[in-house]
Amino acid sequence: RVALSFKLMWVRIVHAVLPPVNFTLTVSALAQVLLQWEPNPAQEQNNSTIRYDVKILSPEPEEYDTRRTHSVRTAALHNGFSARVRTLLLQEGIPRSSNWVEGNLPPLPGATETSVTNLSCVTHVTIPGNVSLRCTWLPGQGAPEDTKYFLFYRYETHTEECPTYTKDKWSRNTECRFASTQIKPDEIDNLVVIHINGSSRHAAIKPFQQLFNQNAIEKVNIPRNISISLEQNDLLATWEKPISPFHEECFEHEFYLINLKSGNQISSSSFQLWVDASSRYSIRIRANLNHICRAPGVWSDWSDTIYVGQNKLESSTTWILTLLCVCTSCTLLLAAIICQINHVWSKLFPPIPTPSNKFRDPFPTDYERARTCPSSTETEVGSLAEGLSCSGLDDSVF
Ligand SMILES: *[C@@H]1O[C@H](CO)[C@@H](O)[C@H](O)[C@H]1NC(C)=O
Ligand SMILES: *[C@@H]1O[C@H](CO)[C@@H](O)[C@H](O)[C@H]1NC(C)=O
Ligand SMILES: *[C@@H]1O[C@H](CO)[C@@H](O)[C@H](O)[C@H]1NC(C)=O
Ligand SMILES: *[C@@H]1O[C@H](CO)[C@@H](O)[C@H](O)[C@H]1NC(C)=O
Ligand SMILES: *[C@@H]1O[C@H](CO)[C@@H](O)[C@H](O)[C@H]1NC(C)=O
Ligand SMILES: *[C@@H]1O[C@H](CO)[C@@H](O)[C@H](O)[C@H]1NC(C)=O
Ligand SMILES: *[C@@H]1O[C@H](CO)[C@@H](O)[C@H](O)[C@H]1NC(C)=O
Repeated sequence: RVALSFKLMWVRIVHAVLPPVNFTLTVSALAQVLLQWEPNPAQEQNNSTIRYDVKILSPEPEEYDTRRTHSVRTAALHNGFSARVRTLLLQEGIPRSSNWVEGNLPPLPGATETSVTNLSCVTHVTIPGNVSLRCTWLPGQGAPEDTKYFLFYRYETHTEECPTYTKDKWSRNTECRFASTQIKPDEIDNLVVIHINGSSRHAAIKPFQQLFNQNAIEKVNIPRNISISLEQNDLLATWEKPISPFHEECFEHEFYLINLKSGNQISSSSFQLWVDASSRYSIRIRANLNHICRAPGVWSDWSDTIYVGQNKLESSTTWILTLLCVCTSCTLLLAAIICQINHVWSKLFPPIPTPSNKFRDPFPTDYERARTCPSSTETEVGSLAEGLSCSGLDDSVF
């Protein structure tokens, strides 16, 4: 009896948390899903806050929570979509959650390997500030020869079919160009959705979708008005930033310089270089956005090649001749100085009879005698250092 009454009290204080109802997934645009649910009508919510936990399972796992009962997600839907939602009850700061309810969208129908592969897209900011779009792809391995592919792009709420296709040898579309799109060139991290479906008399063609970050696929324009000058050994390049809504500081540049005389190549992003002025150079420049303003895109094409300077082949000969002259002069000067010194030296130290027999003396006793004799003309400095007592010696030398 005691146990039963305790149980009843527990139920009264802590309400059960019930999962949401009527969870639905609806495709609201190309590669866009609307998730919707309703609060459980049986859920008591006296003085408590209700939120919802949402968990996207595929194609890209993601988890978040919301106070609303709907949510919009952008994802490639060709392989289906699945998600879960549950109630989160916060009562007096303590969160408790319900069981999950799950919803799925089936994969888009079509035979295997009929989807396009290797889709790649590039955008370009055109002169009036509009953005062009070009996409290429390969037909699926299993796509019949009569397959006709159709490409659509979606940007925000705008969806449009490709106006201009290029075909392969079986006249299947494999490339599309939009001369102008609704893509805003100054937006950051917006998505460009590409949807390619198709038709064939022999098979159902499975659609393919891919999301691209608009910044990552923007191929930057080539820098304009490039001018190169060579003064002394300074190679100076100036140019204007590529056509773009972004500022000058947002760009980085790459320089490709070839010394046409030596064949040396330099790839650099600096625009002032110290070079050998006696060579001819070819220079190309390209640009990309750096990290300062937004994520980098695709490097621009290289500019046209610009040539500067002249190869001066004779100049090296001149150099050698100059060097030779200088060397010769130096040698002569040195010789003159040596001569002069010798002359002075010989004046200072007049030739003195050499004691040639000093070490060859067969009679060491005589030698000993000679050393101690004041009349000796010993001149060796070493001998003087020995402190000979022959005082007359000093006078005879100096
Ligand atoms: C759930 O959907 C059913 C049928 O569409 C509807 O009758 C019911 O009112 C809905 N429940 C809620 C809580 O909206
Ligand atoms: C919650 O409120 C309802 C009426 O609004 C009341 O009948 C019920 O007893 C309350 N529950 C709790 C646990 O306070
Ligand atoms: C809700 O909270 C208020 C004060 O915060 C309290 O007076 C009231 O009794 C609570 N109601 C329920 C149903 O718990
Ligand atoms: C297509 O993509 C696959 C894998 O992504 C790659 O191995 C293959 O080389 C690509 N084919 C062409 C023609 O680019
Ligand atoms: C540029 O875009 C505007 C509107 O976005 C359009 O009216 C105009 O025709 C476009 N210009 C070009 C050259 O495509
Ligand atoms: C391709 O997709 C577009 C946009 O969803 C649709 O309007 C069109 O009917 C589809 N074409 C085929 C052949 O499935
Ligand atoms: C390039 O320079 C010329 C003259 O120096 C100028 O008229 C022209 O407008 C410049 N071009 C660009 C794109 O700024």
